[in-house]
Amino acid sequence: MVDGKFGFGIVGCGLVSAFHGKAINATEEAELVSAVDLDQQRLGSFCSEYGCEAAESFEAMLADDRIDIINVLTPNAYHAQFAVPAMEASKHVIIEKPPEMTLQKVDEMIAARDQNNVKCAISLQVRFRKPIEAIKAAIESGRFGRLLHGDTYMKWFRATDYYFQDDWRSRREEGAGVTIQHAFHYIDLLYHLMGDVESVRAYMYNLAHPQVELEDTLLAFVEYKNGAKGVVQGSTALWPGTDVRIEINGENGTAIMQGERIVVWDFKDEQPGDEEIRSVGSEAVKTAAGGAADFAYFEHQYMTQDLLDAIKSDGSPRVTLETARGSLEVALAMYQSADNDEVVCLPLR
Ligand SMILES: NC(=O)c1ccc[n+]([C@@H]2O[C@H](COP(=O)([O-])OP(=O)(O)OC[C@H]3O[C@@H](n4cnc5c(N)ncnc54)[C@H](O)[C@@H]3O)[C@@H](O)[C@H]2O)c1
Repeated sequence: MVDGKFGFGIVGCGLVSAFHGKAINATEEAELVSAVDLDQQRLGSFCSEYGCEAAESFEAMLADDRIDIINVLTPNAYHAQFAVPAMEASKHVIIEKPPEMTLQKVDEMIAARDQNNVKCAISLQVRFRKPIEAIKAAIESGRFGRLLHGDTYMKWFRATDYYFQDDWRSRREEGAGVTIQHAFHYIDLLYHLMGDVESVRAYMYNLAHPQVELEDTLLAFVEYKNGAKGVVQGSTALWPGTDVRIEINGENGTAIMQGERIVVWDFKDEQPGDEEIRSVGSEAVKTAAGGAADFAYFEHQYMTQDLLDAIKSDGSPRVTLETARGSLEVALAMYQSADNDEVVCLPLR
């Protein structure tokens, strides 16, 4: 702790670190203590921009008693190697999405969390978006009736130079590709809203980035365990990029989120709060359709506060390793389906 505030350390000062720096600095009970990165220039810029020390090393951060929480913001295949030792050093952790690249690594992190009695939140901040909260509440209260369809359409654009900003961005084994890197947020939202998946049939294409050997476009058909069907479309090939849509249909209602606003909210049983829900969000708030850094930081702030609340109440953060594991399993099933040209049933063996 630092003067009664929760001390934070950052591992990885790349693109997403700005959102964590801003979120921590905007959180009253949080104090940014130090950061670490292999790239000294990035580390220096981050420390001067967000007002913290440059830690001598990750090990020095682990030994620093002022630090209660470590945010792991390294590339997708390098999360567990920091999160596990951090939890073994009794630090709570926030891990950027996806939690890791294999279910086995996620299980190792779950074990480290439980053995060391710490909290671990996954940075799937879109779950804190107001329309998602409203849709989730409507599903849980039964307003949709039987769920029939759950879809996402992510027609985004990333210029080719995005894939060459950092080595890992063009390497599938390190976590690159539209499915695991970009559409993952929306695969996760469908898992969060619609529940377990029975099977997936996915197709992957490279439509507009011939310089990299990756899928920039995903099309998948999903059967949910509850009997509902769904389409998962995700692309970074579609210039200039338009706001993502999540569409949920039940026998008694339809809700559609576009960007961070509700554009359709129609139920057979119109209720007093419905008009207010229809006005949630704003077209002006960017949600990363056209650029990797083109979104607001306040959802990261909600996620940061949520972890602090979980620590204080000895509860569970809203986005746990277990639930992120479920979304990762769906994404991995999509890769297996596209690679082997087959329908893949879950759980994965
Ligand atoms: N939640 C979101 O909306 C969102 C948005 C963008 C990125 N992300 C996620 O955040 C993570 C980081 O993405 P990014 O775009 O910031 O990547 P990035 O490449 O811009 O930054 C990663 C940083 O980690 C550093 N790093 C790598 N290995 C290290 C090591 N051993 N020790 C210390 N530092 C090390 C790199 O030098 C780099 O500065 C990824 O998991 C990504 O999926 C999430």
